[in-house]
Amino acid sequence: MSMDRRKFLNLGGLGITSFTMSGFIPSSSLQEAKNRGSAISKINPVVVSTWDAGLAANLAAWKIIGANGKALDAVENGVMVTEEEINCCVGLSGNPDRDGHVTLDASIMDHEFNCGSVAFLERIKHPISVARRVMEKTPHVMLVGEGAQQFAVAEGFTLEADKLSDDAKKSYEGWLKKSEYKPVINIERKQSVSQLDPSFMAPHKLSNGEWNHDTIGMIALDSFGNLSGSCTTSGAGFKMRGRLGDSPIIGAGLYVDNEVGAVVATGQGEDVIRVAGASAVVEQMRQGKSPSEACKFVVERIRRIKKEKAKDIQVCFIALNIKGEAGAYALHKGFNYAVHTNDGNKLYESSFVD
Ligand code: GLY
Repeated sequence: MSMDRRKFLNLGGLGITSFTMSGFIPSSSLQEAKNRGSAISKINPVVVSTWDAGLAANLAAWKIIGANGKALDAVENGVMVTEEEINCCVGLSGNPDRDGHVTLDASIMDHEFNCGSVAFLERIKHPISVARRVMEKTPHVMLVGEGAQQFAVAEGFTLEADKLSDDAKKSYEGWLKKSEYKPVINIERKQSVSQLDPSFMAPHKLSNGEWNHDTIGMIALDSFGNLSGSCTTSGAGFKMRGRLGDSPIIGAGLYVDNEVGAVVATGQGEDVIRVAGASAVVEQMRQGKSPSEACKFVVERIRRIKKEKAKDIQVCFIALNIKGEAGAYALHKGFNYAVHTNDGNKLYESSFVD
């Protein structure tokens, strides 16, 4: 078996296996069922999310999607788990910007191209839910900063204290000594999969005192045959004030096209934005590539663009096609992702360029 073949994690058969085992459902029947909003028993739901924190997030999503709930509700509730954890990189406990403030980015997208996002949002515990409200209650796609916060408060979200978590305060004080902005690749994950207990519930702090994930991104297929995705982060630690990453940008950090698939990105947001990453992966799947192949194509493009600087960044994608097949690819070793199907919740090591 070639290296590529071995690296390629074929999760085909995870999703709608019964399409092949019990007979293909004609797309017209699929569309009729979708229109009726009725669950098609032959479609097995799938939830995929980034990093090992995805295991706990997947469990919350599965409670919804595994009981014939909607993918949109699953991806919102799933990542809310991570937003509430104490960790370096998602939610209000995350690392602050250079000025000592935690600023949050999040986006959500459903199977009908409805989407919403918030960016540079402060003092709100669940930015993903504000993003959903932007999608459902405003004529806009994106709200940022003070305006996003005003909208959140008007919608009944609590304005939390402007206070760093103990860990973030310690990290920030450490950072202030040098005040250098140096992204650390794989800050999100610092241990091998073999050390992980798949049944753990977050928060998950490592023995070296670091947290093992950053952006949580989640994509899901429900039993109605509909895809949705979500993405939420406190962004790059010690970033310039006002910096946005890829996560709140529809087409960069997240994209969903129900004819093709759903994709979410994690890692160095600037380099995902410059290739419209999530959208680019979806377009590769539209042309017939498997989820892993499509992610690989775009990661390799980033590798070519960055040249020797690629060694200093990490970029990763997860993808789920409308057939329920999942895949991932990363620039460097160290990315993992969690997949929940009817067969359980499992963590996979991603393939990578080098
Ligand atoms: N991927 C998250 C960020 O760059 O902010």
